[in-house]
Amino acid sequence: MNESFKPNILAFLCNWCSYAGADLAGVSRIQYPPYIRVIRTMCSGRVDPLFIINALKDGFDGVLVSGCHIGDCHYLDGNKYTVKRMEMLSQLLDLSGIGRDRVHLRWASAAEAQPFADNVAEVTGIIMGLGPFSADDHKMALGALTRALSTTRLRWLAGIDRHLTENENVYHEKTDPEYFKQVITDAATMEYHKALIQEALDKGPATVREIADQAGLDVYTVSKRLNELELNGLADLSSCEENTPRFASLGG
Ligand code: FES
Repeated sequence: MNESFKPNILAFLCNWCSYAGADLAGVSRIQYPPYIRVIRTMCSGRVDPLFIINALKDGFDGVLVSGCHIGDCHYLDGNKYTVKRMEMLSQLLDLSGIGRDRVHLRWASAAEAQPFADNVAEVTGIIMGLGPFSADDHKMALGALTRALSTTRLRWLAGIDRHLTENENVYHEKTDPEYFKQVITDAATMEYHKALIQEALDKGPATVREIADQAGLDVYTVSKRLNELELNGLADLSSCEENTPRFASLGG
């Protein structure tokens, strides 16, 4: 670990618990690493994964989201939605090569000044171990993450997860959580790959091979996902030179 590295960590703190816990830590003169910059939110459930991607784009080395313990959320189950969104975000961060360790979710109540300080120290240690984050080195991945996390499909899946896996439908059936986890993994992978292809096409028309090289995907995956983008009106054939088709973005 580079001890001289002073990380920039953005912390989203829930007003009703972790923010008050941070306040109590200050009043109680409990020491913790001074590298977090705080944004107060009314609930951890207010933290859209896109806020986190924007923080990384804006130069933060890591992000902490801290809310009320499960069962204590002032909006009943806002933090349970946070868990689902963060699980999806973690998968996408791993897929992008950025890695899930840049982003952390922790709980601390208003009375837990020391646990809050411990959480900050732990997360700071992990981010320091990872070293500085370069948004420029991950420009394409960050663009693709923004696109993927903006899709109706992923936003709907993250929101509907608990309804399907915790409640019975009209036939008194519940969706198996393991099955639904796999559905989300598959959808997140597909949407991320499509987003990477869109990022590549934003630079100009390209062949399947060129897209594959830029996106770091295999040719077969690019062909499949490109076909879906064409069906959705987001990409199209732009020219064909010596029997090699070239594709272009149609926006989106
Ligand atoms: Fe604190 Fe929801 S009110 S996590």
